[in-house]
Amino acid sequence: ATTIPISAERAQPERDEPTTLDQCRRCELWKNATQAVPGVGSEKARIMLVGEQPGDQEDLAGLPFVGPAGAVLERAMKEAGVQRDSIYLTNAVKHFKWELRGKRRLHKTPAQREISACHVWLEEEMARVKPEVIVALGSTALKSILQDGSATMKSVMDAPLQHDGRWVVTVYHPSYVLRAPDEATRQQAYNVIVEGLRQARKLLG
Ligand code: URA
Repeated sequence: ATTIPISAERAQPERDEPTTLDQCRRCELWKNATQAVPGVGSEKARIMLVGEQPGDQEDLAGLPFVGPAGAVLERAMKEAGVQRDSIYLTNAVKHFKWELRGKRRLHKTPAQREISACHVWLEEEMARVKPEVIVALGSTALKSILQDGSATMKSVMDAPLQHDGRWVVTVYHPSYVLRAPDEATRQQAYNVIVEGLRQARKLLG
């Protein structure tokens, strides 16, 4: 009988180990999503922006931030002087989580187990791109970046923090600007995003 050396056995990927993002089955979200949405942008980006998860339009297009939240982000980046082609843009969770309401697919916030399951992909992007500054757009992004499910935005929004040798700037998620209850809150949330992006630029020196 042929014996397989242990080292050769170990070289095989684990049965449940995905080799590509689109094959990922680490959590259940792939089942209801059209496709996994990877990050986009410059491989040499010094700033990485991390959102929550693809929305309805991103799920269909296969690209991050192409819907209404993306339009807010685009406007804020312009105002802060951050060029889209100089950054890397991605999400903490790569599949769209939703529930049907009438005919609409309504966004559902990812659970901590889904954020944790997807962290390997963000880790892979961070290792590849090696950004000096990461901008966390909202609480899901922050939890994934810090690998801390109890991290809250309130505790870190006052000042950038250092994590794993990088700066982390935390701002509101652009979709918060769209659903804030009144104009004053919307404007304030938008200003926080613009300021955070400006700060990210300044941290590069
Ligand atoms: N919201 C996100 O967090 N990411 C997207 O790609 C789109 C909307």
